[in-house]
Amino acid sequence: MEIQWYPGHMTKAKRQMQEDLKLIDLIIELLDARVPAASRNPDISALGRGKSRLFILNKADLADERVTEEWEERFREDGVPVMTVDSRNRADLRSLRPYINEACKERIERNIRRGFKNRPIRAMVAGIPNVGKSTFINTVAGRASTKTGNRPGVTKGKQWIHLGKGLDLLDTPGILWPKFEDPSVGTALALIGSISQDVLNRDELAVALIGFLVSQYPGTLEEHYGAEEGRTAAGLLASIAKARGCLTKGGELDDSKAADLLLDDFRNGRLGRISLERPGASMIGGGR
Ligand code: G4P
Repeated sequence: MEIQWYPGHMTKAKRQMQEDLKLIDLIIELLDARVPAASRNPDISALGRGKSRLFILNKADLADERVTEEWEERFREDGVPVMTVDSRNRADLRSLRPYINEACKERIERNIRRGFKNRPIRAMVAGIPNVGKSTFINTVAGRASTKTGNRPGVTKGKQWIHLGKGLDLLDTPGILWPKFEDPSVGTALALIGSISQDVLNRDELAVALIGFLVSQYPGTLEEHYGAEEGRTAAGLLASIAKARGCLTKGGELDDSKAADLLLDDFRNGRLGRISLERPGASMIGGGR
């Protein structure tokens, strides 16, 4: 699928992030657990050279648990600390600290060797739009934290959330736009809602999702819409329209309405836990 993609404020956001990176030790990079490769931005590696890294597989509640385990294994093989969470859930984020300690092990040891025992680790949350950065920060910050910076009369500064026990979190996340040359990566990002719906052909996107579901999660469309999966993707879209009463004013089946409904059901997890990518294999449009 051809996607026309115009990264509006990319330059400004990138510059802002470059400034903020000077202030921190650790980048907590959020990835969408349903598409950990497509939601990873290669710029962060270059921008954050010399910084410690922790990856968060967020929205794990929406992803296929077996596939998420494969991803965790892959990250571990690469020696990269990774934590799997639903950022809306406070309990999931309770064990953040040990992961941060692991990610910053060398820095913490160096600080102790140099006698800076109480120097806090300063962290920034980064990721592509809609991956859950604000949710993550809000949940981690909770009520226990205190904020400083930008006080009247004080030099305009950054907002830091003091999490206690030597950890400070910058409350402004680093926003990076997804990058893709491969259209199938674009399709995956559109499906999870990280690219504005306006630039896409909804019907084509829904057809791509239908093809993927039939091959990788057979029975899903039948279970949710009573759609018999032996048909073509376009035929299945029509059966979803029929099953859900999606009609035009003239009483015809409305494929676009059915496409919206299907995409919305997928994004909100109503079709079950589905991953669009697995390690080493192609994503939507390819085999798993
Ligand atoms: P951002 O700052 O990176 O742009 O993302 P934000 O926190 O605003 O989160 C985007 C949407 O994703 C929000 O839904 C949020 O509740 C949801 N979200 C964040 N983390 C998780 C998670 O771990 N699991 C699930 N299931 N959802 C998560 P929203 O406010 O309803 O917005 P939208 O659905 O209308 O986009």
